[in-house]
Amino acid sequence: MSTRLSLLEILNKNKSTYISGQELADQLGISRNSVWKAIKKLQEQGYQIDSRPATGYRLVSSGDVLSPDYIKENIPYPCRVHVVEKTDSTNNLAKTIADCSTPQIIVANEQTGGRGRLGRTFHSPAGAGLYMTVAFQPDFGLDRAMLTTAMSAVAAARAIERVTGLNPKIKWVNDIYLDGKKVCGILTEAESNFETGRIEKIIVGIGVNCFEASMPEDLNDIATYLAGPQKEFSRNELAAAIACEFFDMLENFDKFSMLREYKSRSFILGEQIMIFNPAIARSIGRPENRLSEGIRARAIDIDENGGLVIEFLEGRRSREMETLTTGEITVRRAYD
Ligand code: BTN
Repeated sequence: MSTRLSLLEILNKNKSTYISGQELADQLGISRNSVWKAIKKLQEQGYQIDSRPATGYRLVSSGDVLSPDYIKENIPYPCRVHVVEKTDSTNNLAKTIADCSTPQIIVANEQTGGRGRLGRTFHSPAGAGLYMTVAFQPDFGLDRAMLTTAMSAVAAARAIERVTGLNPKIKWVNDIYLDGKKVCGILTEAESNFETGRIEKIIVGIGVNCFEASMPEDLNDIATYLAGPQKEFSRNELAAAIACEFFDMLENFDKFSMLREYKSRSFILGEQIMIFNPAIARSIGRPENRLSEGIRARAIDIDENGGLVIEFLEGRRSREMETLTTGEITVRRAYD
């Protein structure tokens, strides 16, 4: 563990008292001058540490500062962790890292061009969310890669539950919901080599709305956040928890148990949904001027490739089943 992280741990355990520089130095096996330097660095990073002459130091607030040391130390899997203050998109940044044979984790405090699925933007204000990308070189082919999004959704849901005690649900294919509103989105991208036919890199971007922040008006009714301004958990904890769940599932991959959990966490199975897809609308006999309207269907199952099995409830294909694959449609609960 790094000196700064060990120092933080001691200060964190003794939040109600001041600890002298000498005591810290003794516990850490370093000089008082090194303690002073480490404290200065932590203060620069945003930790509020009060220092009193002839008394010592006390951690007032950790201020939810993103810490690569904390995140790395709490992930018991090989990986590299990068924390940046601001970037356009952590997925874009991940694409600039050529060698992902050791998985790379990128976390940003703010994104200026956060991207979502289907060309949407992901609102990413400073300090309010966790904007995180895991990039790795897979040792598997396309079939399993297709399940990476579903696996990431399960990992993120598990981690949110563990860190916050809340009970988030998954909305096919990759959104995480809380009380009927979106709290997390996942954007999975891949880089493949046409000559070898191999997938060189999988890039999984996870965005979590953590703390209350002003949202654009159009998001107010459909998005929510995990915690209020009290910040009951830290983004460092959540980042490490997501990475742990992710790497655990990646290493011990069991497609059927993953899909079982995915389904048990889904909140659309058995529900009526609306599908927005012009090609499907045409196939059920909709006139050309109504192709953008939702199509009523029922969500029946998730198949073994992560596809959504639906039953049409209207049009000339009523009662017919179809399996929808990722990335081509938007699904909404009929009564949303
Ligand atoms: C969606 O809601 O459609 C997916 C949102 C994914 C957002 C995350 S935030 C970290 C990573 N960087 C991005 O630009 N997007 C993903």
